[in-house]
Amino acid sequence: MSEITRRNLLKGAAVGAASMGVMGVLSACSSGGSTASAASSAEASASASASAASSAASSAAAEAMAEFEMVIDDPKKASNFNIITDEAEHHGPTSTTDDTLANLNSAMAGETGANAKYTAFSKVAKDKGFERIAALFEATAKAEDIHRHLEEEVAQKLDPAAKLPESPSVDPYETDCNLIAGARGEIYETSDMYPTYIKKAMEEAEAESDATRKAALEEAVKVFTRAKLAEAYHAKWYMDAYTTIDTPTKESYWLCSTCGFIHKGAKPAKCPICGVNTFEEY
Ligand SMILES: [Fe+2]
Ligand SMILES: [Fe+2]
Repeated sequence: MSEITRRNLLKGAAVGAASMGVMGVLSACSSGGSTASAASSAEASASASASAASSAASSAAAEAMAEFEMVIDDPKKASNFNIITDEAEHHGPTSTTDDTLANLNSAMAGETGANAKYTAFSKVAKDKGFERIAALFEATAKAEDIHRHLEEEVAQKLDPAAKLPESPSVDPYETDCNLIAGARGEIYETSDMYPTYIKKAMEEAEAESDATRKAALEEAVKVFTRAKLAEAYHAKWYMDAYTTIDTPTKESYWLCSTCGFIHKGAKPAKCPICGVNTFEEY
C-alpha cells in the first residue's frame, strides 16, 4: 500500500503520455515515402510531428500533474489510497425471491446493517476532520433508518410478529474506503436487491385475492420503489464525496425525512421521489 501514492500514479501517467509520443514517432517513420527526397521530407515531417507529439504529450502530462498538484502537493496528505481487503462484506443481504414477507425481512436486515455502518462511518469521518462527509454519512444513516421502519410497518401487516433485527457491530475502514463500501452497498440495493423485491411484490399483489393482504403487498411495492430510488442518490453522493475527498464541499445535504432521498446544495422545493417538502439539513 505504501508504494502507491498519488505522485507515483502521476509519474505513471507522465510515462504513459511520453510512450504515446514515442509510438507517434515510430508510426510516422514507418509511413515514410520511397524516394530519398520524399524519405527525407517524411523524416523531417516525422521529426516535426515527433517533436510536436512529444511536446504535446509532455505538456498534457504537465497539465494533468499541475491540476492534481494544485489540489494536493504532498502525497502523504492524500486520502484516497487505502484498500478494502474483504470484498464480500459490503454487498448487502442476498436477494431472495421466496416471498415478499421474506424480502421485507431481508430488506429490514440490510437497512439495519447500513444504518449501523453509516453511523460508524460518520464517527470515523468526524474524528479525521472530514466534517461534510461525516454529515453525509449521518444523513444516509437516518435515511436507512426511515427505510427500515417503513419496511417494518408493511411487514407487520403481513405478519404481526415481524420486527427489526438487532443492529450489528461494525468495524469501519478509513473514510475513503467507507465511501466506496457505502457506494457498493447502495448500488447493489438500487440495481439488484430492490428491483428483485419490487417485481416479486407486484406479482404477489396481482395474484392475491384477500383485499387486506393485497393492499399490504401494494404498499410493499411502493416502499421498495421509493427506497430503490433513494439508494441511487446515496450512491451518487458517496462517489461525489470520494472523488472530492481532498477538496471537500462546503454545501449542505438535505434529507427527505419522508422517503430518505438526499440532495446536496440548495434546499429543494420538493422531493423528486415522494413529492413533499419535509427536508432536514445536514
Ligand atoms: Fe441508502
Ligand atoms: Fe421524499
